[in-house]
Amino acid sequence: MNERRLELFPPTTRLEKMPTGADHLSIGGCDLTTLAEQYGTPLYIYDQATLDGAVDEYRAALRHTYPHATGITYAGKAFLCVAIAQWAARRGLWVDCTGAGEIHIAVTAGVPRAQILVHGVNKSVAVLAAAVTHAGTIVVDNLIELHRLAPLRKREADFPDLWLRVRPGVAVETHSYRQTGQDDSKFGMSSAEAMEAVLFCCQQDLPLAGVHFHQGSHFHDPEPIGPGVDRVLDLIATLRQGSGWTPAYLSPGGGWGIPYHEDDLPHPSIADYVRFVAARVEEGCEARDLPLPILHMEPGRSLVARAGVAIYRVGALKRTPHRRWLLLDGGMADNIRPALYGARYSALPVVSPLRPVTDQAWLAGPYCESGDVLISALPMPDVQPGEMIAIPASGAYHLMMGSNYNGALRPAVLWVSKGQAQLIQRRETLEDLVDRDLALQESVAV
Ligand SMILES: Cc1ncc(COP(=O)(O)O)c(C=O)c1O
Repeated sequence: MNERRLELFPPTTRLEKMPTGADHLSIGGCDLTTLAEQYGTPLYIYDQATLDGAVDEYRAALRHTYPHATGITYAGKAFLCVAIAQWAARRGLWVDCTGAGEIHIAVTAGVPRAQILVHGVNKSVAVLAAAVTHAGTIVVDNLIELHRLAPLRKREADFPDLWLRVRPGVAVETHSYRQTGQDDSKFGMSSAEAMEAVLFCCQQDLPLAGVHFHQGSHFHDPEPIGPGVDRVLDLIATLRQGSGWTPAYLSPGGGWGIPYHEDDLPHPSIADYVRFVAARVEEGCEARDLPLPILHMEPGRSLVARAGVAIYRVGALKRTPHRRWLLLDGGMADNIRPALYGARYSALPVVSPLRPVTDQAWLAGPYCESGDVLISALPMPDVQPGEMIAIPASGAYHLMMGSNYNGALRPAVLWVSKGQAQLIQRRETLEDLVDRDLALQESVAV
């Protein structure tokens, strides 16, 4: 059981025998115990080899299955900071930014304009202005946004390419909070709106270059992508007939899932997913006599989730009538996913991780919410206060959805590679917590 859990961790994970005889978990050639002692807990670790491996897998699968040009955009919403944006840009990925904040991170990281793609539902005028200034591509979510963009075009010689985000009317199988492709979704345009948008772009001479859709996030079966692709290709054929315009780029978004728990193993591979999508696009274009578009994948989770590991220290233990509680020093403030949509995780002790399981444990955080439980009913060995535990598959949608609830300080983040660890985000400080605050004026009567 515990050995299967190791498969959820980065492929560079090892058990290192210490002089004491205990096995220590190491990742990227770095001993997790040493890192946690040095940087404190909760601590997040990103393993470069795992990130690189996932990119290589996408690239190889695209190269072997799609007979035309391809590209990959890293969905920064999964985890974005300066270092990861730099890694993505150096690996030749585009970086998907939602909102002016993520654009600012990418620009600070030095991501070239051509590699910045801007997403977002209901982009404000300020966000659109930032996108026009810094991005190579803007994915337009709705007609109002398009109308706001048109006047900006007149002022900018170097105007970004525009893609239209459409709703294919089919979602993937996943939690309803993560479905986006259905007709009733708040994201993207209907077919009629897409036609209006294309005609508007032709009339206004806007550089319309692509069509984008995203059916949802964290799915394991690519099957519903098939009808999604078909519907979008039907729409493209109709747009072509009605306007003469054909997109150079087609993006089926991202959303490929990963295993979070040993029960999710074995998990179909990135290559299985890419093969399915690429074949469907190629066959679909052929059937409709459409030229092959540049196929642009947009993964977030499947690139970064497995690379990230969260380390917590166990503080108190409790036994209640039906539960053994391990109380950790982090929880819903750095990982809201279990509370938000019942996400299921697994864990191992950092020292002697493969010791025998005793019984089930509930791993809960320190925050004032009964829902602050990271893992429920997980078979675990005996664990003592002061021990550290590691939660695998923690690289996506944790820190980006993090909060300062109960005054929590956002954790430090390390980058590990070939035995070297580098701090890429420092832990928040108490000063950070009050940095934005202003004292109440003395003149205010109480
Ligand atoms: C438009 C878009 N693209 C890509 C993604 C990335 O999804 P994932 O991280 O599951 O691959 C999302 C996630 O919500 C998204 O909304």
